[in-house]
Amino acid sequence: MIRPLVILPDPVLRQVSEPVERVDDDLRKLADDMLETMYDAPGIGLAAIQIGIPRRMLVIDLSRDDEPNDPHVFINPEIVATGEQPNVHEEGCLSIPDYYAEVERPASVTVRYIDRDGERQEIAADGMMATCLQHEIDHLNGVLFIDHLSRLKRDMVVRKFRKLAVRDKDKAPPTRMVG
Ligand code: NI
Repeated sequence: MIRPLVILPDPVLRQVSEPVERVDDDLRKLADDMLETMYDAPGIGLAAIQIGIPRRMLVIDLSRDDEPNDPHVFINPEIVATGEQPNVHEEGCLSIPDYYAEVERPASVTVRYIDRDGERQEIAADGMMATCLQHEIDHLNGVLFIDHLSRLKRDMVVRKFRKLAVRDKDKAPPTRMVG
């Protein structure tokens, strides 16, 4: 099932997500919904809080359009080591549509997590996977990629999305029926 995305400036995005306590069929169903929502958007990563669920879970699929899907589910992910080398990637976010900016982060990270079968796993990631994991784990802590930009840039983006949100509210359905 495709779930509605939470969009900036919704304060839900600033919530710190709680650890998952049990990996069961309900949780796997949620992971499937997250993947379906991400593929539909389309995006390459999605944290549960982006569909309004404050649980420490995220999904990632870095396969190209011409490749079969390669879904990954990370439950309670935790960065246990970061490389010293920095790396700059252009990032975007499904909760901040149509805005992209370069963000500097460590080029490699080691992440411990639980997979969809409830097994403990560890991944040493670099390249796009390292960037994506850090972006999504930020979401679990209420942090957005625009928080890594200068205050000036961040304020500009937030202002723009506040205006858009107000405009959408103005578009509420008419209360008067004109036939
Ligand atoms: Ni994001």
